[in-house]
Amino acid sequence: MKLLVTGGAGYIGSHTCVALLEAGHDVTVIDNLCNSSAIALQRVQEITGRSLRFVEGDIRNPEHLADAFEGGVDAVIHFAALKAVGKSCEQPLAYFDNNIGGTIALMQAMEQAGVSRLVFSSSATVYGQPEKVPVREDAPLNATNPYGRTKLVMEQLIQDWCASRPETAAVLLRYFNPVGAHPSGLIGEDPRGEPDNLMPYVAQVAVGRRERLRIYGDDYPTPDGTGVRDYLHVMDLARAHRKAVDYAAAHPGCEAFNLGTGRGYSVLELVQAFEQASGKPIPYEISTRRAGDVAELTAEPALANAKLRWVATHDIHAMCADAWNWQSKNPNGYSRDMSFNTYSR
Ligand code: NAD
Ligand code: UFG
Repeated sequence: MKLLVTGGAGYIGSHTCVALLEAGHDVTVIDNLCNSSAIALQRVQEITGRSLRFVEGDIRNPEHLADAFEGGVDAVIHFAALKAVGKSCEQPLAYFDNNIGGTIALMQAMEQAGVSRLVFSSSATVYGQPEKVPVREDAPLNATNPYGRTKLVMEQLIQDWCASRPETAAVLLRYFNPVGAHPSGLIGEDPRGEPDNLMPYVAQVAVGRRERLRIYGDDYPTPDGTGVRDYLHVMDLARAHRKAVDYAAAHPGCEAFNLGTGRGYSVLELVQAFEQASGKPIPYEISTRRAGDVAELTAEPALANAKLRWVATHDIHAMCADAWNWQSKNPNGYSRDMSFNTYSR
């Protein structure tokens, strides 16, 4: 299939491009590199031995999108978004504009190009503070911050759009906590500035870029008092997108799927697993709870298991080993001063 991947230079997008190219799909990426590096795409090609087309552009710009759709597209995988919860509280309009505005522009371009299949990056954040875990897809939805609001609104807009065009197929993938890296260590998570998320923070402590981890609360009603999450290997997540594209080809309508392992780990358990994988001590201090955090959030992945025929296969040890392999081989992440050699713009 000819696939357009928005945000394909980013963390999850680049890993998904590897899975798509390895499955024999033709891939075009559109990305404005606002939170990524074109080097990731060079490395995707190095890993797969296949080339992809890169359009450096913004999905809110119709000309850039027209360029991306040139040559025909069978389905779109839509990662492009801003994703920092804290920043979204400071600059909600930037998040509404980029995430919601970008998604509307993308759906318009899809209509113009006659493309009817969409796989969308949603998030467990759409469950807000769930009443019970593991959480199912039919649990009540709620936003607790502007970033989460954009995911919720985008899901609803896509649903309405699908309802208006019976031939349209959309798969909403609600990721839990993606971590890890491609086993080659060539691509991985490279947050700008201080990491918001646990795994990249731990990896930067291990490699000596940060002194110690701050654990946000040890007084939650969990076995060791620290927060419990459903961590998911990014290569399992990448494979789920391949499955979702195939599913969309045969199933018009709009469906949401949780993507997680169904198994939760506490912050302390993850730290311990990382110490084992890396052989490095992870100094930490206990700090106060982070605003908006829940005690425990895990997925009920049965729907994705049954309908997408997808099961997460990597355990926490593989997640930590691959995250460490990436971080230790690229202590400073991607350097950002190289350009990609096949720009189409
Ligand atoms: P990322 O920031 O690494 O990737 C997003 C990519 O989109 C970046 O390369 C960025 O440059 C690009 N982008 C953003 N706005 C754009 C625009 N207007 N036009 C073109 N490109 C644009 O983030 P990620 O972790 O790979 O996340 C990918 C998707 O998955 C996002 O939609 C995110 O909200 C969602 N998600 C991520 C997580 C997570 O923990 N990483 C969890 C749940 C959902
Ligand atoms: N944590 C720490 N110290 C840190 C970072 C995180 O103790 O420096 C703890 C958090 O308190 C939480 C756990 O580690 O208990 C996981 O935190 P992350 O920030 O890695 O992940 P979250 O579950 O908070 O957030 C992730 C995504 C969000 C998304 C949310 C929805 O980053 O974008 O899942 O499930 F909205």
